[in-house]
Amino acid sequence: MAFPRRTFLRVLGGGVVVAAGAAVAVPRLDAMPSTAIEGWSGPDPAETDPRRRALAWALLAPNPHNLQSWAVDLSRPDTIVLHVDTGRLLPQTDPYSRQILIGHGCFLEILAMAAAAEGYRTEAALFPDGPWRPGKPVARVAFTKQPGIALDPLFAQVPRRRTVKGGFEARLLDPAHKAALLTGHAASALPLVLVDDAESVDRLRGLAIAGSELEMNLPRTHKESIDVVRVGAAEIAANRDGISLKGPMIWALRHAGAMTAEKAMTPGTLAWQGGLDYVMAGYASARAFGWITSVDNTRETQIAVGRAFVRLQLAATALGVALQPHSQTLQEYPEMADLRATMHRQTGAPAYATLQMFFRLGYAGDPGPSPRRALSSFMTA
Ligand SMILES: Cc1cc2nc3c(=O)[nH]c(=O)nc-3n(C[C@H](O)[C@H](O)[C@H](O)COP(=O)(O)O)c2cc1C
Repeated sequence: MAFPRRTFLRVLGGGVVVAAGAAVAVPRLDAMPSTAIEGWSGPDPAETDPRRRALAWALLAPNPHNLQSWAVDLSRPDTIVLHVDTGRLLPQTDPYSRQILIGHGCFLEILAMAAAAEGYRTEAALFPDGPWRPGKPVARVAFTKQPGIALDPLFAQVPRRRTVKGGFEARLLDPAHKAALLTGHAASALPLVLVDDAESVDRLRGLAIAGSELEMNLPRTHKESIDVVRVGAAEIAANRDGISLKGPMIWALRHAGAMTAEKAMTPGTLAWQGGLDYVMAGYASARAFGWITSVDNTRETQIAVGRAFVRLQLAATALGVALQPHSQTLQEYPEMADLRATMHRQTGAPAYATLQMFFRLGYAGDPGPSPRRALSSFMTA
């Protein structure tokens, strides 16, 4: 079946592609495969090891490109040793693995909440074998039984949390929600700023768009995203990571040969333009932006940023506020340096500070959970 570009008219919600006047039924099987999202229902009820039960929640943490770069060693009793899976890095767009380490902070925060829900206190020794480099552990987490340990109220939001990548509703950020997010974050030492005035939002939107376009127009940085795009249910089920593209339009493009990695890398193709349009629709709908900065940029601080960021996203989930990070303009590769410096100035962050997380906030329906690999695939021992 071939659908040349000009014959594409629209995709209807019910799984029907209207092309050249003919309606083609699309199999429902291009929906998200259930195996890829089974992790969102939590630990296996038959699992009795509290570490594995807590890990089943921790692997739902947000993380760059959904690479899930976590590897865990359970060989010592009552202990989890957390490593970076060095086969899952982003050397072009995250050359210092700053974002990967932030993703580890998100993981450790949810791990601690989940352990408490099992009745265990955790103590995380960060970088126990010295400064992190690939191969050295990120954390050694000791589990100690503590009857009556308080449950973190944000834990209930873990299975509901989503990164909303599509368009937001045309609603301003509710001032009460803004205030609640700032108050909730106040326990963190990391500065958080939220802006929703039209002038700032427009300015920051322009920079976010410029950063995204720059990354898409550089083949080596764009390729890092394309390499982890999983197109269609079968690819998603086989990998359970990365960026999932699914649904009737994707099904039709794939069957027409228009949605291939090579096409997505080639400006001017439907696949490339579709990717750009999707990203731009997200920015166009942004009504508020926020960012977290830090005074230094140590590995410990990157972990702290991840912990604070996931708490913020969970608090947003509880309020019904959608939140999507924008990392492109913050990235540390040479071609991004000018835009990154401009973004830094525009946020008003002090020159010595590091802009760690930048995100848009708003309101949106539930896009559904993103895939996660099976717990067993994270185990090194
Ligand atoms: C450090 C970090 C950077 C991220 N950067 C982006 C980004 O630039 N754009 C984006 O859409 N999502 C970004 N995300 C969100 C991830 O893509 C998302 O967590 C992942 O795909 C899993 O989806 P989920 O959060 O819905 O579970 C980032 C997450 C983290 C922790």
